[in-house]
Amino acid sequence: MKTTDVRRDMPLLDKIIYLDAASTTPTPRHIIESMNDYFYNYNANTGRGAYHLAVRATQELEQARKKIAKFINSDPKEIIFTKNATESINMVAHGITWNKGDKIIVSNMEHHSNLVPWLNLQDRGVEIKIIKADENGVIDPGEVEKALDEHTRLVTITHINNSIGSVQPVNEISRIVEDQNAFYLVDAAQSAGHINMDLKKLKADFIAFPGHKGLLGPVGTGFLYHARDSHAKLNPLNLGGSTVENVTENYFELTESPSCFEAGTQNIAGFIGLGSATNYLGRIGISKIEKHSKKLTKIMYQGVQDIENANVYGSPENIYGIVSFNIDNINPHDLAKILDEVKSICVRSGFHCAMPSLRHMGAYQLGGTVRASIHYYNTREEIETLCETLQDVSKFIKT
Ligand code: ALA
Repeated sequence: MKTTDVRRDMPLLDKIIYLDAASTTPTPRHIIESMNDYFYNYNANTGRGAYHLAVRATQELEQARKKIAKFINSDPKEIIFTKNATESINMVAHGITWNKGDKIIVSNMEHHSNLVPWLNLQDRGVEIKIIKADENGVIDPGEVEKALDEHTRLVTITHINNSIGSVQPVNEISRIVEDQNAFYLVDAAQSAGHINMDLKKLKADFIAFPGHKGLLGPVGTGFLYHARDSHAKLNPLNLGGSTVENVTENYFELTESPSCFEAGTQNIAGFIGLGSATNYLGRIGISKIEKHSKKLTKIMYQGVQDIENANVYGSPENIYGIVSFNIDNINPHDLAKILDEVKSICVRSGFHCAMPSLRHMGAYQLGGTVRASIHYYNTREEIETLCETLQDVSKFIKT
């Protein structure tokens, strides 16, 4: 499938220049149709009823789990449905039994979702060790190695940082953590569906996935990959229907994973949509997506950098899919509003739920940055329009 084919499936893109894939992505027509099929033809609860509609809904949901597992080359039992990557991370933060004196290693380039749940554990006597990135927002695996000790229970890092797009050495860090008695959690919020992820190299205990960003699934979907060979034991975040094998008035026995983590009625249509989204991505081809986005990222980085009074964050060699910048003397939100009003360009502005990373990059006192983020549906022409418009705004401000 070409970019033009994908754009045909996203009519929203005819009216706007959508450069906010890091927040969420438009949902392709086929995915919406697969969800409509559920609502129109077999709208029933899963794992509960014996009637044919309920059986079909259950089969389609489990089929979706299989498609997702196949897409990341894993086992369906390793896929726990969640509502987003944030919930997946919280599932780990709340699910591990922490002891006083445990240590968690995390970087200063995290989205708040992969920092606040850990900071919250300090009350229980858990030590949080923050690894600082270099001037391009990249973590040195050597620093992680130095910080590791016998108290370390978890090392966690984002694959691609959401505020400036720096790619972190997740495979190298996995090799360091592998020999230790610590668990490894990767936040794939900005990499899933964007770049090839080899689970054989990325030997993580947990990977947090959003469904609605790079994977092109609907909002309200995500999942937690929990490796079957991991020794990490998780207690469920929620308990209730579906999570138990046997219940008496004073006792319950949990079911196996993943169902012990999926309490209550699920976002059935959403996960069916996410399953078709992984098929859809498979039809495009992840290496084609990667090639396309790498090229557009470079063009965008260069185009913004060429603007005299612009400041782009991160190094062009190491950022992927996201270009974060400021133009002198204009607040990021004002600039984003101008881009929208003048050319219907949709970008995110501000702190991107990642304040420590923007403090580190020196953008906090500027009110954050403007962030343009792409996917396979974006075109070179759109990037050129962004850069030309920024050029005009910048000249106007100077005069
Ligand atoms: N996590 C999303 C972002 O970075 C919402 O914009």
